[in-house]
Amino acid sequence: MAARMLGIDIGGTGIKGAIVDTDKGILLSDRIKYPTPKNVTPINAINIAMKIVKDLEWEGRPIGLGCPAVVREGVTMSATNIDKSWIGFPVERSFSEIAEADVSLLNDADAAGLAELSFGEVKGVFGVCILITLGTGIGSATFVDGVLVPNTELGMLKMRDGIAEDYATNRVREELDLSWKVWGGYLNDYLKHLEVLFSPNKIIISGGVCKKFVKYEQYLRTKLEVVPAKLLNNAGIIGAAMGMQRRLDKFI
Ligand code: BGC
Repeated sequence: MAARMLGIDIGGTGIKGAIVDTDKGILLSDRIKYPTPKNVTPINAINIAMKIVKDLEWEGRPIGLGCPAVVREGVTMSATNIDKSWIGFPVERSFSEIAEADVSLLNDADAAGLAELSFGEVKGVFGVCILITLGTGIGSATFVDGVLVPNTELGMLKMRDGIAEDYATNRVREELDLSWKVWGGYLNDYLKHLEVLFSPNKIIISGGVCKKFVKYEQYLRTKLEVVPAKLLNNAGIIGAAMGMQRRLDKFI
């Protein structure tokens, strides 16, 4: 029987979830999505995630969750594009109490990276491999010989007058109505910066904008291999589910 697990991905624009086959890395149910309210608090987000649990009739069963924040031992430790009340909030324990089920929490980009490690573009890459998610913020999952170095937060790197998140996110492209050429130029500068600092063997672009890779690929002039995520924007949901599955597998 397929290993079935619910994965939920809390993002800047949407809270998305689906039941995932964690052996194959595919969705087994509809992908449910609710908009993320502005300045979402952890309790708001958990209540919306609970709607997904109910919609998919997953009550009482283990859940994997991804959040747009640094995560240490089930607690979110940063809040760049979300309400400051996330800092120090025990998301894993709170969701687990409300759902009356085991919950495993990962940073959203780390979750997407784990999904690509098992089923996509990170698989089989030795040396340094970096997945970046370009959405409301920039997330990163950094691997060394296929081992995840969690919470790397490479969107925080200094760039021009600010940080990379001020230039290379899909949010900036949409809000400032930037052409693919201008935005692709910013992304190129960011990728060059990653190249100089980390010498990665491969960079994977994840998040909604990875579906439009053909529109900006021509503006990326680094020497690096840069590819869109294979699981497209389902990587976050699939990886969140895999986080819980990995935890269960360890204890069986
Ligand atoms: C957060 C990261 C997150 C990324 C993508 C950033 O603003 O600091 O933790 O992975 O957004 O959601």
